[in-house]
Amino acid sequence: MAVIFSGIQPSGIITLGNYLGALKQFVELQDEHECYFCIVNQHAITVPQDPKALRENTRTLAALYLAVGLDPQKITLFIQSEVPAHTQLGWIMECTVHIGELERMTQFKDKSVSQKEGISGGLLTYPALMAADILLYNTDFVPVGEDQKQHLEITRDMAQRFNNRYGEIFKIPEIKVPKQGARVMSLQEPNKKMSKSDEDSNSFISMLDEPKVIEKKIKRAQTDSEASVHFDKENKPGISNLMSIYSACTGKSLEEITTLYKGKGYGDFKKDLAQVVVETIRPIQERYNNLINSSELDDVLNKGAEKANKAATQMLTRVEKAMGLKR
Ligand code: TYM
Repeated sequence: MAVIFSGIQPSGIITLGNYLGALKQFVELQDEHECYFCIVNQHAITVPQDPKALRENTRTLAALYLAVGLDPQKITLFIQSEVPAHTQLGWIMECTVHIGELERMTQFKDKSVSQKEGISGGLLTYPALMAADILLYNTDFVPVGEDQKQHLEITRDMAQRFNNRYGEIFKIPEIKVPKQGARVMSLQEPNKKMSKSDEDSNSFISMLDEPKVIEKKIKRAQTDSEASVHFDKENKPGISNLMSIYSACTGKSLEEITTLYKGKGYGDFKKDLAQVVVETIRPIQERYNNLINSSELDDVLNKGAEKANKAATQMLTRVEKAMGLKR
């Protein structure tokens, strides 16, 4: 079975963007693949985190992983900091990647602008840890949103460089991006991606937002003045983004949606979209509420860490042997 690896940062409550770009794909992949899904809390600390909030967001994310429909009997779900091989291989990847490559990363450039307290070293070396995450599991495919493309390319480069130096140790992983929902944009600034760490909570839909809040946010979403529901990313980024969300949630194509709303205004469309999103999220929230305080969640995470540790340690040993780090 081909191996899947992906991770999500517990740096806030995950958004509809994270769901449509990443989690929804995970659910579709779990039957046919060996899947490792990680709560990458060590990536989250590249910017300052409040310890209590980090702990809570980690648990919330674990519950949401399961609430979207991932079956712990089929997948391995674990917390990054509970599998030390990630940071161990992370260091080795830092020694493999070049500073120039790291400095070119858009996520680094974007995030460093918004850091008021100084830019941590980890923010720059982040892709090395991400490469380690992926390469530890002999990963074939990495399902992610479009914003992670650059990180995947640099991961492949690191793996290839390492293999050229030390022999064929790493499998070269491939990216897997969904057809719709790969880049959900901010509801307020549709030229920016929707992000869980955005200061303006009207810009994103959280997976734990109540139906009323979802309706309000969609109603207020930025659109143009033409009031015609058709897809034009360049000139009508707001409505195009909302159409993509509609499409990703329902499976309807953009053409079908255009036909459906011919002659209707944005008001009608937004009302329906709010319902579509609410109905997408409702069953997830129901399962979430049953999971969040259950001991089942801890069992899943304990078992996940155990299984991940086994696989990751094996790979780390191979790497250390190849490099002359083992006696
Ligand atoms: P993160 O935590 O920012 O996002 C988690 C996943 O959600 C996707 N995503 C989106 N998809 C569509 N539209 C959006 N607006 C949107 N925002 C986020 C992301 O592409 C991602 O798939 N570096 C990663 C975490 C990571 C990782 C890994 C991923 C660490 N190690 C190894 C894969 C494999 C990140 O910051 O994701």
